[in-house]
Amino acid sequence: MSDAVRRAAEILRAGGLVAFPTETVYGLGADASSAAAVARLYAVKRRPADHPVIVHLAAAEGAFAWTREAGEAAQILAAKFWPGPLTLVLKRSALAHDFVTGGEDTIGVRVPAHPVAHALLEAFGGGVAAPSANRFGRVSPTTAAHVRADLGADVDLVLEGGPSEVGIESTIVDLSRGAPVLLRPGRITQEALEAALGKRVALRDEDAPKHPGGLERHYAPATPLRLVPVHALDREIASLGARAAVLAFSRPDERVDYWLRMPRDAEGYARKLYAALRELDGAGCDAILVEAPPEDPAWQAVRDRLRRAASGG
Ligand code: TXA
Ligand code: MG
Repeated sequence: MSDAVRRAAEILRAGGLVAFPTETVYGLGADASSAAAVARLYAVKRRPADHPVIVHLAAAEGAFAWTREAGEAAQILAAKFWPGPLTLVLKRSALAHDFVTGGEDTIGVRVPAHPVAHALLEAFGGGVAAPSANRFGRVSPTTAAHVRADLGADVDLVLEGGPSEVGIESTIVDLSRGAPVLLRPGRITQEALEAALGKRVALRDEDAPKHPGGLERHYAPATPLRLVPVHALDREIASLGARAAVLAFSRPDERVDYWLRMPRDAEGYARKLYAALRELDGAGCDAILVEAPPEDPAWQAVRDRLRRAASGG
């Protein structure tokens, strides 16, 4: 175990905050059993107290200790996708207090695959509450530098782990109400979940439990962002010119000063998305124009994040 990981585990045990890499995005971690540590986590995030956080564990057995009624579907998904970018929402056990569940009778648990996250969770031993390591409502960090830019001195330690491989937050499946419901799409697609379970996975609906990520503007840069179909991009650029920053599949247009080209595969696109949004947000432009991605199922998670980034409040 590295010195940094050992120190990070000590900080967690003392009630401190440690930002750490995961394969999805960087998390801001606190001891999930400590009311004081989690309170500080919420204060630094500027997150409302009724928004639940995901609890991270080193292995499935530890994760299921935070839940009750983890049935066959939970066992199947855990066996297939953990460690990895999947969060399961299940009925909570007595380990999960109101201060991590936002008062819900459910708990979100995840076993991340990133070696540094895994080493930290092993060294700490318990559950680590960790939302993405950004201020509430902003773009999630995919590098340690993003975390430092967002949270600076408010974090006791930032563990380095390179750029996040997935680049967008974990897939969240709610298994607490019988039929599985996809609360947040991610690298593990709806199709992959359905194939593993051998049944339909519904999309979040009106009856789904409260899910703040779906309610307000999230993953949003400060500059207004618009999703533009490829055929309308030229017209938008003509009206904005150099004042636009563009994220597109196509080649740069000379009228635009700030243009980032994105990969044509959904996983590659997701990996780069948040760093690209941060870069374009810093370009000092009036608007960010994003060429709309394909309607294909493989792009579901990317479309979800872009729609939220564009929703403007
Ligand atoms: O990839 C990820 O999931 C990252 C890394 C750090 O693991 N974490 C992350 O956490 O994205 P956060 O807090 O930014 O987003 C967690 C989402 C929120 O939208 C929250 O509402 C939802 O998970 N959530 C957590 N517990 C829940 C529960 N018991 N029921 C319903 N939704 C829940
Ligand atoms: Mg977040």
